[in-house]
Amino acid sequence: MFTTTFSKPATDRIPHDLFTAISDLKQELNAVILAHYYQDADIQDIADYIGDSLGLSRKAANTDAEVIVFAGVHFMAETAKILNPDKLVLLPDLNAGCSLADSCPPDKFAEFKAAHPDHLVISYINCTAEIKALSDIICTSSNAVQIVRQIPADQPIIFAPDRNLGKYVIEQTGRDMVLWDGSCMVHETFSEKKMVQLKMEHPEAEAIAHPECEPSVLRHASYIGSTTALLNYVQQSQSQSFIVATEPGILHQMQKSAPDKIYIPAPPLNNCACNECPHMRLNTLEKLYLCMKNRTPEITLPEATRIAALKPIQRMLEMSA
Ligand code: 13P
Ligand code: SF4
Repeated sequence: MFTTTFSKPATDRIPHDLFTAISDLKQELNAVILAHYYQDADIQDIADYIGDSLGLSRKAANTDAEVIVFAGVHFMAETAKILNPDKLVLLPDLNAGCSLADSCPPDKFAEFKAAHPDHLVISYINCTAEIKALSDIICTSSNAVQIVRQIPADQPIIFAPDRNLGKYVIEQTGRDMVLWDGSCMVHETFSEKKMVQLKMEHPEAEAIAHPECEPSVLRHASYIGSTTALLNYVQQSQSQSFIVATEPGILHQMQKSAPDKIYIPAPPLNNCACNECPHMRLNTLEKLYLCMKNRTPEITLPEATRIAALKPIQRMLEMSA
């Protein structure tokens, strides 16, 4: 009788102590690990820097490391590559996309832009390199209002791809912008009805929200901001409990930085886990280890697209310095 033993290739063997193995690889590769707040807690704990999209872009623009390991989604790692063409940029799972970026196909957006020839194009960083290449200025949720306020009043603007952030910016600035009709599948799951119920159950809690949420949810929030802004807010606020309407990965840092406060994740419409970003959560500690060990998957993009996409990112960094 034959016995067949299947053994994994040496490159795929997972060490028992992943934290030590990843730290060793970090030294070996001269790598920096950048992570978004929506990553699993263990990934956040091993990262060199955790931040919102603006913070991560700034960090990517200034790092001395030879290798950037991006624990986030594709558009974030791609932005790091646009800023660092000579560095190896690794993403633990190449399928970690973004529904918002997917909601804006470049061919359709080029037609939309052509239909509004006098408009300046401001695009939210949650878009592909091709959309960035078609844009004049990139923004994030933490600087969108600040950037739009710097545009002369008589200059018409297209804002893409997130209609909810666009509506929020219109409300804050009073600017009339043409909006691309895109949205984030995660932030769209929050339900106004459930938010109101939760507020009635916890009258002492302060509701805070990310501007990717729909206006019907945002109107129940006493504070609206990017992930970093929400994190800073809970530390500074006098309130002791918060209803948090964004991806619940952020709660890990909230619990670490203000451990005595109470954080209640805003509920999605059904009792599902759909307030967790399925793209972000594709990355795991194992995949983080493997991408560093095997130096793949890496982010690549055509040089012409990279150069065209770099300009509006640089404008953003200058305008929000
Ligand atoms: P910020 O972290 O920049 O607020 O963005 C949230 C988000 O949706 C990232 O995909
Ligand atoms: Fe994209 Fe929404 Fe996930 Fe952010 S939370 S990566 S916008 S799908």
